Amino acid sequence: MAEYLTHEHDVLVIGAGGAGLRAAVEASAAGVKVALVSKSLLGKAHTVMAEGGIAAALADVDDRDNWRVHFADTMRGGQYVNSWRMAELHAKEAPARVRELEAWGAVFDRTVDGRILQRNFGGHRYPRLAHVGDRTGLEMIRTLQDHGIHLGLDVFMEHTILILLKDGDRVVGAFGYDRERGRFHLFRAKAVVLATGGVGRAYKITSNSWEYTGDGHSLAYHAGAALTDMEFLQFHPTGMIWPPSVRGLLITEAVRGEGGVLRNKDGRRFMFDDIPPLYANQTADNEEEGWRYVQGDKNARRPPDLLTRDHVARCIRREVREGRGSPHGGVFLDIAWIKEKIPNAAEHIKKKLPSMYHQFKQLADIDITQVPMEVGPTTHYMMGGVRVDPDSQMASVPGLFAAGECAAGLHGANRLGGNSLSDLVVFGKRAGEYAARFAKNNSLGKVNPEQLAVAERGALKPFEREGAEGPYAVQYALQAMMQDLVGIVRQEQEMLQALDHIQELKARTGRVGVSGHREYNNSWHTAIDLNNLLTVSEIITRAALERKESRGAHFREDYPAKDEQFGQLNIVIQKGADGEVQLRREPIPPMPAELKQIIQEMK
Ligand code: FUM
Repeated sequence: MAEYLTHEHDVLVIGAGGAGLRAAVEASAAGVKVALVSKSLLGKAHTVMAEGGIAAALADVDDRDNWRVHFADTMRGGQYVNSWRMAELHAKEAPARVRELEAWGAVFDRTVDGRILQRNFGGHRYPRLAHVGDRTGLEMIRTLQDHGIHLGLDVFMEHTILILLKDGDRVVGAFGYDRERGRFHLFRAKAVVLATGGVGRAYKITSNSWEYTGDGHSLAYHAGAALTDMEFLQFHPTGMIWPPSVRGLLITEAVRGEGGVLRNKDGRRFMFDDIPPLYANQTADNEEEGWRYVQGDKNARRPPDLLTRDHVARCIRREVREGRGSPHGGVFLDIAWIKEKIPNAAEHIKKKLPSMYHQFKQLADIDITQVPMEVGPTTHYMMGGVRVDPDSQMASVPGLFAAGECAAGLHGANRLGGNSLSDLVVFGKRAGEYAARFAKNNSLGKVNPEQLAVAERGALKPFEREGAEGPYAVQYALQAMMQDLVGIVRQEQEMLQALDHIQELKARTGRVGVSGHREYNNSWHTAIDLNNLLTVSEIITRAALERKESRGAHFREDYPAKDEQFGQLNIVIQKGADGEVQLRREPIPPMPAELKQIIQEMK
């Protein structure tokens, strides 16, 4: 076997956002030796893009809140194809995870009497998002890092994983390279936790930064693990659209939680035009009532700007398509209007939304305390991912665990804002705990040298093709194609075309060449990332073709209604023995009577 830099641990955590850090903390606290691998620098994770808050039924602001309401909201937001067990665990455990973050040093905004302040977000019945201005994810990462660093984690920054290693059926480690020197590394481990985040970079307009190329989804799929719900991709309604260099950058939903409203070019609050029946009894039908809700009037109903993200994104798309959009192809998000309602509005906005204020001032020369922002949907979050056991987070392949965005189940067809941060800590903790337990009961597995050699040869191939087409053109073509053909609104013919394009792009990827050496060679890294991007793009497209209905974030123009039959099942994807994507429809396990009753009561 060739000599590689080799690291041996009990638990290997791949990904250092909220879920990875929380898993690493938990495994380490259980007394096992933990490695934490991060594709970029520690602290730079999509977790920070969950700006507006972490959802937990603390009932600090509205004492009617409790885990049952949070459970029912999450299931309704997910259009009932969620894993009900994950939704139950999440709603029950999120408050403890938030208080734990606080005990570890997270400084949440406070109510006047010193409790944790919670704000409104789409689809949450009561103000439920504990927050730190509009920098909640950042505070969470900082807290978990500070806490984890004292537990003696071995951190490998700027390392990319190429493959998971198998010994028989079991996952026994991973193989990758460091971006700084381009050296290959062998990570042997008794258990592996995937926490690699999402797939946003498969699309042209996204809130995700360069790291989010579907690595965990692709690694798990190629290791034989089942994935599910990959047709459910969330387009956050409000990303920046101007200037072009920052298109897609997130504008937190907290802007609407603090009273921001959406308007078309005629100044009309178009969200009042289309209120889905599922939310009709909770949604205000006039502006005054919506404002009273934002101000904390418990008898008022929420403004339609705070409906679920799937719905709001489609309404924005409709306004633009029908010629009522803003100059750069979006709509207006106006928080400045609250100066009509409250004194010192500008100071209030700067205090509640400091990052948004600076983001617009510095990147677009716009003062959001005075004028509206231009916004449009941006690819934000993948609801689908590795199919896991709800309690232990173990994948269908032994020794492999997954948590956070790269795992599936909790969010069903659409995630409620703020449920990602709570997902990360609830299921990150569980993944760490069960991975440590697994590691204690198993020894290091055998490594197959052939598997390593194949991965190494494959990774270095682009250097042999210097002068050929570079990877960026292929990446750009893929992103533009996915945006156009497998976007917010889908239809069969376009998705079939997408599959043809994916085959062509796979062929082009097999021919891309890079020049130079292996040290910090971004072109080489991109050439490697293309494989994962193409894997997840194909899986998303095939799953979206298979679900012949519209539900949550998955909207089919050719099947615009919900279909009861599809409401009973998940689409499960696995790599077939022939190497091709295989799909099957799996019934959702029956929900226990007590949970059904909660949903009935909340309706
Ligand atoms: O809008 C936001 O602050 C994003 C939050 C989330 O995705 O959970």
